[in-house]
Amino acid sequence: MNKKILIVPGDGIGPEVTAVGKKVLDKIAEKFGHQFSYDEALIGHVAIEATGLPLPDETLTKMKASDAVLFGAVGHPKYDNDPSAKVRPEQGLLKMRKELGLYANLRPIKLFDELLDASSIKPEILKGADILFFRELTGDIYFGDKGRKNDGDTAYDVAEYSRYEVERIARKAFDAARTRNKKVCSVDKANVLETSRLWREVVQKIALEYPDVEIEHQFVDATAMLLIKDPKRFDVVVTANLFGDILTDEASQIAGSMGMLASASIGDGTGVYEPIHGSAHDITGKGVANPLASVLSAALLLDISFGLKAESEAVINAVDLVLKAGFRTRDIADASTPANMILGTEAMGAEVLSRI
Ligand code: IPM
Ligand code: MG
Repeated sequence: MNKKILIVPGDGIGPEVTAVGKKVLDKIAEKFGHQFSYDEALIGHVAIEATGLPLPDETLTKMKASDAVLFGAVGHPKYDNDPSAKVRPEQGLLKMRKELGLYANLRPIKLFDELLDASSIKPEILKGADILFFRELTGDIYFGDKGRKNDGDTAYDVAEYSRYEVERIARKAFDAARTRNKKVCSVDKANVLETSRLWREVVQKIALEYPDVEIEHQFVDATAMLLIKDPKRFDVVVTANLFGDILTDEASQIAGSMGMLASASIGDGTGVYEPIHGSAHDITGKGVANPLASVLSAALLLDISFGLKAESEAVINAVDLVLKAGFRTRDIADASTPANMILGTEAMGAEVLSRI
């Protein structure tokens, strides 16, 4: 197979972890006889520094022309404490999602058995948990009208959803449930929000097309509680952009660490694959970041954008073997991990590569 992959490392630990993800793709190409060619592009703070824009046109053009994008992270602490900054790294990410029509964000929460003790949740509650989140990614309060009034003393962000936007993400979730345990949990706040009432109405209607899939509706506050109380009760979860953002950070603790979780953003064109973690400037350049989320993002890329199931499984299997062998990065180590088994980013990457 001949494919063009765009590497977009972004900010902070993005370049460190994405370098490992790219090596994994290279190894797969070599082992399975594929030709992957690569290009690289800027986004986020590094793009602002170089061009003044968080998502330069050149990056967008390259994204549209590639078969898939392996993405790192965006963000820089200097903006976090400067609410008045007009140009921000995250604008690049949001513009990319909108421009590429990436309306479905898949975040699989799967716990590797070896990491049962790395979570702060009790092992008996966690064991067997396997959830696939579908977070709507191009609507909601993220993209509605926002601004200030009354001389800047009042601020607003408008949440908006159309029937069509809810329908297409709901169908994706139901289709996926058919290949899993045939359960969908739709999460909203229909007791308060009008967008959520439309959401529920549309999901109820789509559910009729999938009589073989069990549907339940939960409020977002109850879902936040149930995820910790009984994560095993969930199979596929579908929810709006902001709720999905918050719930998937929470759910990352089911997998032991944010450093383990990959995501796929898909729509009508090029798919983008990225860790759910951020730029993590506190550990940038120290060589300690967990590269496994980027490695698992590469696995999702192979599976979803290229349909290469065996190749994708080879990557996931290698990660499993590395964990079984006892290797850990700092974030997934616990008190019982011997110091010589705690690896940095590159060494962890090398262990994965040698097992593909
Ligand atoms: C994510 C991130 C982004 C989001 C930020 C960086 C804008 O938290 O991908 O989950 O809120 O969508
Ligand atoms: Mg987030």
